[in-house]
Amino acid sequence: MESLCNRYKEYFKIGASVNTETAITDQKILLQHFNSITFENEIKFVNIQPNQNEFDFSNSDKLVEFALANKLQVRGHTLIWHAQLPDWVNKDRLPTRTELLKVMENHICTIVDRYKDSIFIWDVVNEILADDGSLKNTIWREIIGDDYIERAFWFAHDANPKAKLFYNEYNCEITGKRESVVEFYNKAKKQNIPLDGIGLQGHFGIYYPTADMFRDVFKTYAKTDMRLEITEMDMSMFRYEDHRTDLKQPTKEMIETQAKSYGEFFALFREYKDLIDGVTFWGVSDRYTWLDDFPVTRKNWPLIFDEFNHPKKAYDAIMNW
Ligand code: G3I
Repeated sequence: MESLCNRYKEYFKIGASVNTETAITDQKILLQHFNSITFENEIKFVNIQPNQNEFDFSNSDKLVEFALANKLQVRGHTLIWHAQLPDWVNKDRLPTRTELLKVMENHICTIVDRYKDSIFIWDVVNEILADDGSLKNTIWREIIGDDYIERAFWFAHDANPKAKLFYNEYNCEITGKRESVVEFYNKAKKQNIPLDGIGLQGHFGIYYPTADMFRDVFKTYAKTDMRLEITEMDMSMFRYEDHRTDLKQPTKEMIETQAKSYGEFFALFREYKDLIDGVTFWGVSDRYTWLDDFPVTRKNWPLIFDEFNHPKKAYDAIMNW
């Protein structure tokens, strides 16, 4: 069987998010089909700095070692986010700009420096905009101010000037948010902030958004010089408002709709290959996906390999064109 990343070698890298468990259980297809990995949770604040200035690199080191041994690129995810923060990062303990900036500097510099010879792409900030395009009010913004974002990029750049630095966002197909991301990028470039590109998460559903809707994102972003990565692609079998928990297997119609949509999205990505450096799936196979617990606990089947790690129709759709 031809490998997925080989099929796309003239286009962009093909990645998957892994964790310390799936890197072992799904190793066979991972090494066969992917040439890039993102750690699902291992670099996130709560896991890597659970107590102030006590870093726990045990899991991220293991995965970095695994990546290096198998010549997989690593995307570093993620340095500054408002979710998955440890309890000690709170407004009562760190009420001043000076204190929180110091925490941010120490966090970013320690991690980026540790992996300066192994991780060259970082999601420096994650999910900074609300769906209406305004800046989200997070602890970082409230205590430090709007410039927390540029400071984060400078800290990462100073720790590893060779690294490519990304801002990672979801729902970029929404009118308003799509334009705000461009405004953010253009403003950052004017200020010489070391920002290389935008990560488009890509948590889609089989019915929404369509590849055609997503085309406007590429059309708009192509007017800039930003690099793009699809960073977290998956395709839920359920509509957003569908919270059904009784489905044991996806229907034939779901499987086919998913394959068609995956095929159309990848055709779009190929069309815009000059802008795109990588397409990463949020997971390796349907055996494990974060969507089994979101928005309710039930089995979902959002990826291109099934629960037994066999290729699905969606895999065929993106391989054969
Ligand atoms: O590790 C604890 C475990 O000790 C505890 O027993 C268990 C009980 O719930 O929770 C475990 O932590 C969970 C963690 O995943 C590891 O499995 C958290 O509850 C759970 O909230 C967390 O979910 C992660 C989620 O980010 C948090 O927002 C998902 O695995 C991860 O896939 C997801 O990834 C995000 C991207 O980073 C950013 N974009 C959206 C994407 C999907 O939400």
